[in-house]
Amino acid sequence: MRITPTADFMLEPILDPPIDANRDQGSSRDAIGLGQAAGKGLNTRHGTILTLEDISVSFDGFKALNALNLYIGVGELRCIIGPNGAGKTTLMDVITGKTRPSHGKAWFGETLDLTSMSEVQIAQAGIGRKFQKPTVFEALSVFENLELALKTDKSVWASLRAKLTGEQNDRISEVLETIRLTTSVNRAAGLLSHGQKQFLEIGMLLVQDPQLLLLDEPVAGMTDAETEFTAELFKSLAGKHSLMVVEHDMGFVGAIADHVTVLHQGSVLAEGSLAQVQDNERVIEVYLGR
Ligand SMILES: Nc1ncnc2c1ncn2[C@@H]1O[C@H](COP(=O)(O)OP(=O)(O)OP(=O)(O)O)[C@@H](O)[C@H]1O
Ligand SMILES: [Mg+2]
Repeated sequence: MRITPTADFMLEPILDPPIDANRDQGSSRDAIGLGQAAGKGLNTRHGTILTLEDISVSFDGFKALNALNLYIGVGELRCIIGPNGAGKTTLMDVITGKTRPSHGKAWFGETLDLTSMSEVQIAQAGIGRKFQKPTVFEALSVFENLELALKTDKSVWASLRAKLTGEQNDRISEVLETIRLTTSVNRAAGLLSHGQKQFLEIGMLLVQDPQLLLLDEPVAGMTDAETEFTAELFKSLAGKHSLMVVEHDMGFVGAIADHVTVLHQGSVLAEGSLAQVQDNERVIEVYLGR
């Protein structure tokens, strides 16, 4: 949660090389690196922002994730699809530190071991997550919501009293344009439409300038026009950020994704362009053909 007071946390590089030296040789590595989104000291030398290897999560013996391998490239926009219960949300829980894997490696860039970091540390390291239901502060204005998201190290009231720097004001203006809420800047967030609340929440992530954005079913409940705008927005964010989008809406997936990963029973069933995975017989059998 963005207003949680945060511990003093400095990112200490982990000195041991975390990932196999020969990992670039594996044909299963399928991250698409666009090479622009890395910044703020995150080491992404191999063009991969997120590396998940052999990740398993068990709930009372039930494997929600089962030896999952996934690689996301710097600046990539990856869609994750799959039937209900496939493990998509659990995957995001692992990346954000909400759920610990019982097995496997999870690296952010080359040096940050996500399995040993707290949720707050992971957020501060540059991974932002949007849940399905918008969680904006309804009584506060659009501007105040963005302001709070920017100043994560203070309580709500201390944050609202503390003065913004010129740079912070510029960042908020820029994000307001991006999410098309400039003309609603002083409106109470509670008065926005469902879609606008979703955009505001995306804006609250963007002011923090995360390198990797995780979005779980972002267009659920949106109008067609809002869904179309979300597609444009995500395409414009890719390159500057890396995005992982979980979505059931295939029209939306088709509009945004270069690369799709299909999850089934906690493992990767197929990966490729949407057309490729739509042609895959197993994918048709377990998901698309139903
Ligand atoms: N905390 C938990 N305790 C026990 N089982 C869980 C827990 N969280 C998830 N599961 C189970 O793990 C499996 C994967 O759930 P998950 O929510 O990750 O699926 P999903 O792919 O996001 O599905 P959906 O498309 O319906 O959102 C499901 O069978 C779910 O019931
Ligand atoms: Mg889910």
